[in-house]
This record gives sequence, structure tokens and C-alpha cells, in this order.
Amino acid sequence: MSITPEQINKLIQNRRSLYPAVYSDETVDDTIIEAILENANWAPTHKLTQPWRFTVFSGEGLKKLADFQADLYRKVTETDGSFDQKKYEKLQKKPLLCSHIIAIGMKRDSKERVPEIEEVMATACAVQNMYLTASAYGVGGYWGTGGITYYEEAKSFFGLGSEDKLLGFFYLGVPRTDNRPEGRRDSISEKIHWVRE
Ligand SMILES: Cc1cc2nc3c(=O)[nH]c(=O)nc-3n(C[C@H](O)[C@H](O)[C@H](O)COP(=O)(O)O)c2cc1C
Repeated sequence: MSITPEQINKLIQNRRSLYPAVYSDETVDDTIIEAILENANWAPTHKLTQPWRFTVFSGEGLKKLADFQADLYRKVTETDGSFDQKKYEKLQKKPLLCSHIIAIGMKRDSKERVPEIEEVMATACAVQNMYLTASAYGVGGYWGTGGITYYEEAKSFFGLGSEDKLLGFFYLGVPRTDNRPEGRRDSISEKIHWVRE
């Protein structure tokens, strides 16, 4: 491998979540989206169950997603009385600010060979690969888990069954500027306990 540790450190530490508010009208080339998905597919996976499933929305597909999620939000929240017009409008408008949106699904192994949490963790590893690949290509992206993510009624729209999970959406766009938000993390030393003897 010709990649140096320094290059990997830089890629990982400079990766940032970039939100639709900073995306331009430009479209990310589908070949880059395919590279992002190919790298997602190389995430670690216990017993090779490869639980990640993706539905990619672009072009008119973004409008389809926008309509679906806004309508579903209305339907569910009108039943329980929590409907919020602003949230509804956000669900309708946000997809249209993106170049592509990738719905992130976890497909449960039919033989349940590993605990469910391991399938969720493997899918999260796949999403980190997507984040890093997008960053390497200079594409903006972030993982969002708001809106209809945890609605049972949403699953079938994304080809998922009741035993599967929708884990959110990876939003993608071409950033308008090279300015990146500053990364914020507490020091790793506060999160490690070494046992040496
Ligand atoms: C599982 C998961 C869910 C997330 N959901 C949201 C979300 O719903 N809305 C949001 O603005 N950011 C979301 N994020 C992105 C985080 O806000 C972001 O990673 C954090 O602010 C750190 O910024 P960075 O990614 O630029 O380092 C999510 C991240 C993860 C890992």
C-alpha cells in the first residue's frame, strides 16, 4: 500500500460533517457516489453477513424521497398530535438541497448468525468508510438520523422488512467553499485506561 500513516491520519482527523446549507447547486458525479458505496462494502463484518443496504436518491428521486418523508411525517404526527409545520417543511425542502441522499439500511441476517447490535455496528463502519471516501474526493456529506429514521412505517419504502433497521441518511453535496468547520473533540487521553501490568 502506498498510503502513508500520515496521509491516513490527515484524512481521518480532517474529515468533517458538511451540511446541506453549504452545498452548491452542483451535482456529485455518480462515479464518485459509486466509489463511496464500493468502499462502504469493505467495512468489517462478523461472519461476513454484510448487513448494509443502501437506497440512492438523486435527480427526481430526491423529490420522491422529500414527498414520501414529509407525507409520512404528517400521517404519523397527526395521529399522535405532535405535528409541527416547520419540521414538515424541512422534510420537504432539505433533500432538494442535496446532490444525492443515501438511505442507510441494516438487513438482518436470515439465520441471525450474529447479534443484532453487531449488524448495526458493521453498518456504522460502512458509513464511516463513506464519510472518509467523500472527504477524500472533496465531497461534503453527513450522517443524519432525524425525521422518519425510526418510523416503522418508513422501512418498506427503502426495501427493508420489519426485522431490519433504517439507520438514517447520508446527505451529499458539493461544498461551496474549501472552508471546513473546526473539528471538536475532547482529548483521547481522557477516554483511555491503560493496563500495563
Ligand atoms: C449515528 C450518528 C447520527 C448522527 N445524526 C445526526 C443528525 O441527525 N443531525 C446532525 O446534524 N448530525 C448528525 N450526526 C453528525 C454529528 O453531528 C457529527 O458527526 C458531530 O457533530 C461531529 O462533527 P464531525 O463529524 O464534523 O467531526 C450524526 C452522527 C452519527 C455518528
